[in-house]
Amino acid sequence: MTELMPLKYENEILKLLDQRLLPTEEVYLTTRTIEDCFHSIVDMVVRGAPLIGFTGIWGMALFVKHNPKATFEQFARAAEYLKSARPTAVNLAFEIDRCVEMARLETHLNAVYPKLVAHANFEMNNLYEKNLKMAKFAESELQRIYGDRPLNVMTICNTGVLACGVLGTALGVIINLHNQKKLKKVYASETRPYLQGSRLTSFELLKANIDHQIVVEGAASYLMKNKLVDAIFAGADRIVENGDTANKIGTSSLSIIAKHYGVPFYIVAPTSSFDLNLKTGEQIEIELRDPNEILKYKEHHIAHPEAKALNPSFDVTDHNCITGIICENGIIDPMIPGSVREILEKK
Ligand code: MRU
Repeated sequence: MTELMPLKYENEILKLLDQRLLPTEEVYLTTRTIEDCFHSIVDMVVRGAPLIGFTGIWGMALFVKHNPKATFEQFARAAEYLKSARPTAVNLAFEIDRCVEMARLETHLNAVYPKLVAHANFEMNNLYEKNLKMAKFAESELQRIYGDRPLNVMTICNTGVLACGVLGTALGVIINLHNQKKLKKVYASETRPYLQGSRLTSFELLKANIDHQIVVEGAASYLMKNKLVDAIFAGADRIVENGDTANKIGTSSLSIIAKHYGVPFYIVAPTSSFDLNLKTGEQIEIELRDPNEILKYKEHHIAHPEAKALNPSFDVTDHNCITGIICENGIIDPMIPGSVREILEKK
């Protein structure tokens, strides 16, 4: 099977693999403007915290390309517009704010275009190294707990190439374990309502030839009670100062069940997913999405046409349910006060 490439910039056009159609169709959507980028993020053509961050950089580059005479103020306003596409993943704001800082240094805005292009390419390649470091930290941690025994692991949502552009965070850990022959099996939570687990993670696992089964969210307790899972790895959209972590809806309940059954539960995320401006998870804005994502599958009603639904896209996992937060600088024990800030300040 061919390698997945969720985003490519060719001839000054951003091509985005339309993740809404996966795994049945692999179609690239042509994205020419900042508005196209905005809608691609809102409509989940691209998704996953790091990938929407990279799309944010490309969006700002496209803005400059089409508005070479724009003022810095217009650039800054465009940045605020693009940042508003999705509120929970801090990576989008983090990457766009860096673009604004870069533009601030230029006398003429159009000089920042080649720099943004180079920056986007650099950051995506650089994430591969970071993901690999996280995967190695996780491997050592599991070795410490379980020795050499091949492990059964569980994950939620999609945190692989389709979410990062390269290897992946939690899925990067899993792929590395497989490459090291330390993986037995993966349970991929289907991740209602958008089905990132059954549509995207399973697709990536199939491409990597990794033995796995899709499970419904409600199977978590069954799996852990029956000792079918040795460890759980999840990604993050925003990790705040005390270690509370926003990630795909259902992550928090998974962590609570894991704590109940004594299964190690890890968050895996690059430092661009941390937000030290917020002290606790209560301050994180949770994106509420269209109820139709729950009520319908594509155009087919699942529930009665008059039924209503509430669709929070993320939840906050309490730091005391997290065994460790793995980033490129090391593993954080979120129960130790100050440990998040300490590891982020480590060079
Ligand atoms: O709504 P999505 O698909 O963008 O949500 C993605 C997640 O929740 C991921 O776990 C998170 O962004 C980390 S991706 C490395």
